[in-house]
Amino acid sequence: MSQQNPTTTVTATINDSEIDATVPSRYLLSDLLRRELDITSVKRGCETGKCGACTVLMDGDPVKSCSVLAAQADGTGIETIEGLDDELGEIIKNAYSRNHGLQCGFCTSGFLLSTKSLLEDVSDPSRDEIRERLQGNICRCTGYTRIIEAVEDAAVRYDPE
Ligand code: FES
Ligand code: FES
Repeated sequence: MSQQNPTTTVTATINDSEIDATVPSRYLLSDLLRRELDITSVKRGCETGKCGACTVLMDGDPVKSCSVLAAQADGTGIETIEGLDDELGEIIKNAYSRNHGLQCGFCTSGFLLSTKSLLEDVSDPSRDEIRERLQGNICRCTGYTRIIEAVEDAAVRYDPE
């Protein structure tokens, strides 16, 4: 007979901490982060992979945690904004603040993490590159101009050498 409530064990590095969690197999990565680990910076918006509010970095790449099973995080490194305290992370957070790149803040975690991924790949992005790399993140408040200016400001201040 099949197991009624199958579980899966996930071993991962989350913001430099090793975690070992046994969760229902149906859990999404957003469930693991929010319900199991209480990392509530990971927001739930559309829950259909469209808004980007739930974006985290998985091995450095942005993923929408509402569209990834927790089991798929096994063996990976996950970063949320709680771990955004390295030099680049501080530059990005300060740039968003200085340029008023947020209002209600619901979308901001996802934008900050997508921005980090972008600037790690392209330290001096064009406006088109910024728009392309942030297109998976939706903001209902800012009109995007200030977000783009924040990314440009962060890029000017970030020296990857
Ligand atoms: S909540 Fe995941 S993309 Fe909207
Ligand atoms: S600041 Fe409100 S949704 Fe982006």
